[in-house]
Amino acid sequence: MKQTLIVANWKSQKTTKEIQEWLDEIVQFPRLFTSPEKKIILCPPFPYLSLVKKFLQEHTLMLTLGAQNISPFSEGAYTGEVGGKQIKEFAEYVIVGHHERREYFTETNEMISRKMNQAIAHELLPIVCVQSGSDHIPQEATMLAYEPVGAIGTGHPDTPENANEIALQLKQQNTARKVLYGGSVTAANVHAFTAMGDIDGVLVGAASLEAKEFIGIIQNA
Ligand code: PGA
Repeated sequence: MKQTLIVANWKSQKTTKEIQEWLDEIVQFPRLFTSPEKKIILCPPFPYLSLVKKFLQEHTLMLTLGAQNISPFSEGAYTGEVGGKQIKEFAEYVIVGHHERREYFTETNEMISRKMNQAIAHELLPIVCVQSGSDHIPQEATMLAYEPVGAIGTGHPDTPENANEIALQLKQQNTARKVLYGGSVTAANVHAFTAMGDIDGVLVGAASLEAKEFIGIIQNA
């Protein structure tokens, strides 16, 4: 059985009130999260991991938590950083090397490798983002997200056929066992991607912010 992963990346968006509203809508559909065929991973901003975790526990809602970033260092005197040991208290996954981190925070391949190693050291599952089939991929990356730059936040997704071809290529050339597609995924187009043989799920930005749209993505995936 293929398990489809659906990862919501809220980026630097939402406040406590907005998150509470989102959760209040989502909690009306508990059965959406119990299917063994779909695994839903929610990546809120750091300050809200605790709040969301508490809500999920109280409502026995089967969502898994992820972080959007991780410190390249272990714990210590690194002002402003959040380390793997801290993330592990709340989350199981961590997004590493997102294009926005590379572009706005000048993250290099070396930095991304260090972050991935920190994730692994703390038993977090890194979702390593790549922008093309020929990007440098740190060794030991088992889960990748193929996110072509022109598709992120533009409303212009890649074609499912091309994304599938790149996913296959990534699996053949690396240790990756799962490849997600990300970039302008919506409830309307998600199935075209998840139906592809080598695409194991989706990484969703903007369309995960609205609970209704995100519910549609889970239903249609
Ligand atoms: P988008 O973002 O769904 O808003 O295009 C995807 C991502 O950046 O992971």
